[in-house]
Amino acid sequence: MVTTKTKDGGAARWVRPLVRKLHAYVPGEQPKIRGLIKLNTNENPYPPSDRVLEAVRGAVDGRMRLYPNPTAEGLRVKLARLHGCDPAQVIVGNGSDELLAMAVRCFVEPGVAGGGGGRAGSRPSGRQIVQYFDPSYSLYPVLADIHGAVRNAVPLGDDFGLPTVAGLRRGGRWRFDAALTLVTTPNAPSGRGYATAELEGLCRAMRGVVVLDEAYVDFARENAMELALRHPHVLVSRTFSKAYSLCFQRVGYFVGHPDLVGALHKIRDSYNVNGLGQVAAEATLGDLGYYRANFRKVVATRERLASALAAHGFTVSPSDTNFLLVKPAGPSARDWLGLLRERRILVRWFSAPGLDDRLRISIGTDAEADRLLRAVGEVLGKGGKGVRSGRGGGRGS
Ligand SMILES: Cc1ncc(COP(=O)(O)O)c(C=O)c1O
Repeated sequence: MVTTKTKDGGAARWVRPLVRKLHAYVPGEQPKIRGLIKLNTNENPYPPSDRVLEAVRGAVDGRMRLYPNPTAEGLRVKLARLHGCDPAQVIVGNGSDELLAMAVRCFVEPGVAGGGGGRAGSRPSGRQIVQYFDPSYSLYPVLADIHGAVRNAVPLGDDFGLPTVAGLRRGGRWRFDAALTLVTTPNAPSGRGYATAELEGLCRAMRGVVVLDEAYVDFARENAMELALRHPHVLVSRTFSKAYSLCFQRVGYFVGHPDLVGALHKIRDSYNVNGLGQVAAEATLGDLGYYRANFRKVVATRERLASALAAHGFTVSPSDTNFLLVKPAGPSARDWLGLLRERRILVRWFSAPGLDDRLRISIGTDAEADRLLRAVGEVLGKGGKGVRSGRGGGRGS
């Protein structure tokens, strides 16, 4: 048995004070129960293509004793071709999460002894700042804290629109000298898409590195890849997790200036992308037609679900992603979480102020959307009676 307490304060005393104070990122629930409709983590409801599954199966043999290609070279070459750039402008990660963490380590000076937030009253140097909008991807503050960087979370307006540069200057809170600015585009969890022209205006005004986190961009009308190819301080982050049904394999990538990409390569783990992930991602790029048809299905289901939920009295934020952020009618958002769970449907509720009156619903298949709509009708038909408290909350993807 492990002794948890010792006279001198326990084994935790060997852990750095910064790490002791950290709050770990809370990912969405991955339940063990079968038969649940999972609309809580923005996974794709459609499986990887047959060609991808075949390629992965075909790679499961004695070669697994060998290390994979250290830089995912084959995949980088294909990605470079897809985006019209040089392979030296592409780095692949163990999910885009890994690359986001690397960007913090690569571009931001750790400066806060105790981690998080900065010292009250002092104006931190821009070199120490990780900046992002609030709400946006809730991993960013966690990454800043892990690194001992200073967080600068700047609130978005009620419609989650991208503030103008003039508005940010007037607001006074935005730091144009931040070492690293992370912009989720389209935004999560709001779903709101941003026009490339607006993003370019913001990028032009920034003096540090800007990462445009396009995890959901395949479901959107526009993408901003051209900005990473045009501006030396802009990186675009993409993932195979959402649009390409490959969460399980953990493959994401950045595109940007070779000097920034080269710097990221220096701090990468030697074999950061697993071999089967490389195989699966390469095969995915060989079967894009299958995936593009799936994007269209997801978008069609999203639009249908948005109208049907609005007809039930929900307020639905416009979405350019594979999820909807809604203010539900009737019971509170937190109660809806429990009510839908009782009906074997998982959605996401965030306890954060400004979001706690909403639910985030990932787009599933048409049949799953129908099940959700039936459950909604049932709850509202009962006038929200028998409401039980929801579970979960917190932060996460
Ligand atoms: C905005 C955003 N960026 C990045 C990620 C991470 O994706 P990956 O699976 O590539 O690590 C997520 C996952 O939920 C996300 O929502």
